[in-house]
Amino acid sequence: MKIPKPLQFIMLAVVFYGLLKIPGLLLGNPIPQSVIFMYMLFIVITILLVMTSTDESAKELFSPIRALVEDPSKKFLRNIVFAAVPLLAGYAAYGFTDTGVEPPSGLRSVHPAPPEALKAYGKTFVLSALENPLRRLEKENPDGFRKLVEEGGEVYFRDCFFCHGSKLDGGGHYAHAMSPPPLSFKGSDTIAQLQESYLFWRIVKGGPGLPREAGPSESSMPAWEDKLAEDEVWKVVLFLYDYTGNRPRSWGK
Ligand code: HEC
Repeated sequence: MKIPKPLQFIMLAVVFYGLLKIPGLLLGNPIPQSVIFMYMLFIVITILLVMTSTDESAKELFSPIRALVEDPSKKFLRNIVFAAVPLLAGYAAYGFTDTGVEPPSGLRSVHPAPPEALKAYGKTFVLSALENPLRRLEKENPDGFRKLVEEGGEVYFRDCFFCHGSKLDGGGHYAHAMSPPPLSFKGSDTIAQLQESYLFWRIVKGGPGLPREAGPSESSMPAWEDKLAEDEVWKVVLFLYDYTGNRPRSWGK
């Protein structure tokens, strides 16, 4: 028995669709529907090309459509099809109006997740393992530690205070012009919640180093990697915690 061309076409398309679905059904690793859609587009075009390669087979493939449109005896069926197709298309389009998927709100994440590693000063710092190398002096050499904090203060009042404020409260004289505004380092809701490595990342890479979720507006926090030496960054971090009386968060020991 010879299978009619139009049926052959449908069967081939279904078989290929099934093949593309197999990885998802059997292995639990589905091919994304959008990729399947793209492949199916090429597959259908290829089947059509093969099936219309001769005039004869093209005629055979399209004969039912031709008959539907031209054959006077098929008037009733024709009317049904011509009414059903636009209705189905409308129904499909209506299905897109409420997908239950909300667009992202675009709210700014104030403390976005830092990257796994950061490149600066010709090195790669792995943030989860990064600690302030000067912090140990707090116990080992308190006098030396005080000196480092003071030097950090000098960095702060040279480079940071006009945005973050001379009281570290975010009230610098440029602050009112910024959106998002500079953060206060006081209180328990900013640096007290962070690790020193997080501050290191934020100071070294600044606003330009923030991930997208920190949008929508641009942060004017400068990147300091070209202007401050590595130890100056660590010193200013010591100063920020020391002045505000906050303790940095650390991994539980
Ligand atoms: C031109 C203004 C400006 C200067 C100068 C500036 N900052 Fe900032 N800084 C900001 C703004 C605005 C933010 C808030 C937006 C953001 O998180 O990027 C910020 C955020 C920060 C944060 C993140 C705080 C948090 O809770 O996530 C740290 C840390 C920081 N600044 C440290 C510094 C240090 C240290 C200096 C000096 C070396 C400095 N900043 C200089 C504007 C500035």
